[in-house]
Amino acid sequence: MCGIFAYYGEKKNAPELVIEGLKNLEYRGYDSWGIAYKTPTEIIIHKEIGKIGDIKTKDLELGESGVAMAHSRWATHGGVTKANAHPHFSENKEIVLIHNGIFENYSEVKKDLIKKGHKFVSQTDTEVLAHLIEQHTRKHSFEDSVKLAVKEIEGRYAIVVMKKDEDKIIAARKGSPLIIGVGKTHGEYFIASDIPAFLKHTNKVIYLDDNQICVIENRKINFYDNATNEEIKKRIIEIDLDIESSEKGEFEHFMMKEIMEQKETLNRAINQDPKTIEQVAKAIESAEDTYFVGCGTAGKAAMVGAYLFAKISKKQIRFVFGSEFQNYKEFINKKTLIVCVSQSGETADTLEAIEIAKEKGAKVAAIVNVESSTIARTADMVIPIKAGPEIGVASTKATTSQLAILTMLAYACDGGVEIAKQLLIRTASQINDMLNPRYAEHIKKIANKLKDIESMYIIGRGANFPMALECAIKLQEVSYIHAEGFAGGELKHGPLALITKNTPVIALVANDDCRKEILSNAQEVKARGGYIIGVSPTNEEVFDFWIRVPDTGETSPIVNIIPVQILAYQLAVLRQNDPDKPRNLAKSVTVK
Ligand code: G6P
Repeated sequence: MCGIFAYYGEKKNAPELVIEGLKNLEYRGYDSWGIAYKTPTEIIIHKEIGKIGDIKTKDLELGESGVAMAHSRWATHGGVTKANAHPHFSENKEIVLIHNGIFENYSEVKKDLIKKGHKFVSQTDTEVLAHLIEQHTRKHSFEDSVKLAVKEIEGRYAIVVMKKDEDKIIAARKGSPLIIGVGKTHGEYFIASDIPAFLKHTNKVIYLDDNQICVIENRKINFYDNATNEEIKKRIIEIDLDIESSEKGEFEHFMMKEIMEQKETLNRAINQDPKTIEQVAKAIESAEDTYFVGCGTAGKAAMVGAYLFAKISKKQIRFVFGSEFQNYKEFINKKTLIVCVSQSGETADTLEAIEIAKEKGAKVAAIVNVESSTIARTADMVIPIKAGPEIGVASTKATTSQLAILTMLAYACDGGVEIAKQLLIRTASQINDMLNPRYAEHIKKIANKLKDIESMYIIGRGANFPMALECAIKLQEVSYIHAEGFAGGELKHGPLALITKNTPVIALVANDDCRKEILSNAQEVKARGGYIIGVSPTNEEVFDFWIRVPDTGETSPIVNIIPVQILAYQLAVLRQNDPDKPRNLAKSVTVK
């Protein structure tokens, strides 16, 4: 989703530097971009629709400056136009602003500003904020005006603002990530929505928390609590992220690199202190009610988790999508536990579920990849999945690591964390054998056959039903083929009407209690002319095409998703889509 990157320091190539940094945030997903920088006499803005990746900074004729800001926009209020792209000027063009999040009450504020004579050139909520700050500067200092304006925002935000004639850059956040990078030279700072933007320059960071404001001026940085206006001290943290882990290496796309990394990432998820897992398992056991919460792919992993608990630890867990959690708020109390699953740790809907849970006094545990994220910092207990930076928008390695942790958690509730560990170590080693170029070539044969189809379906039962939903997401995200997942038993209640000659249906067939039933469902499809692609440890008569997976018992959801990740990737490449940056989608969804 939208990306923020700003620079303040002695380097005179700040405009170029922020453009290069913004390129490292491309994976978040966006549709337009823009920069602003200060010269001694004015603020210059440059905006474009489309991708920044191919832009050569020398073609932009950028001036020299030591202060600049850049933004990649994922449209929410107003279409994808140059006028709607950030940065946005205030009425008098003295204040310039970039913004992530949503200013929910912007239309009332806009009406009021229009009455006061303000004219707007875009349809965005962001432009309203730039004008609102300017309105306050008529009576207050620039710094106080920003502080006053953000108090009026309902919703989540991360902003960076600067003003002509002031050697100052101000940043504020509530609910949307903003991180300060502390540069190597005195008084040099970076402000970004995500660390990869400045990782090349520094690994020393300061996390801005909600309702905090950061003011950089005269080569100094100060932080304030926006509720009390008191100055606060913040800690500099050295992070241990290397640039290489966020680069493609020998691979053409991050998605394939990350699929292949699953041999190692699973082991990293498994080999962590069992006490971290046991602590959350204990909390589940003592809670009156436990909810697993997540969105998108992380939501599907959480849903698998509920099945694993029913089967392995015989415990009932409710699964709820983050965006639906508010409907359950009447049932949340001090005895409730919510376990959030999230790759980025910044998903707005999941964060909102946490806010609701905390208001009701419930405890919160988080299974996250980004350990410095808001969700990780807000939760009472955290299990890191340790998958390393996931850059491809379509989640792959984070998913299997989330599933591994959920499997360990289910076994831990039954006192068997060590049994889970051994099972997962075996699974990781079988995945290691499976993930080779020959396997990918075999799947490519089916990708070639499917590349021009319009629709396909995926069926599964038990824990492989949510995996069928996840397979559909993978195919939708990168191949743009209409794909839907169903519980095998539900076929006869509607979806069977969609099956005609050669309709492709992927059947996830694990060697478990559901095996016979899912094979019967595959027969029902075949009898109506469907073309069955079986993902299974054994070849079956009903399959038209067989993709072999190892027989790993309770970890079948982990091994079953991998060939479909590869299939989705290959379909994307064959259909000339960019698998790393699917249209209209974002990696970190920071709006509700
Ligand atoms: C977006 C991403 C998905 C992800 C979902 C939830 O849709 O593209 O890959 O599953 O958000 O994100 P989270 O970071 O909470 O896992």
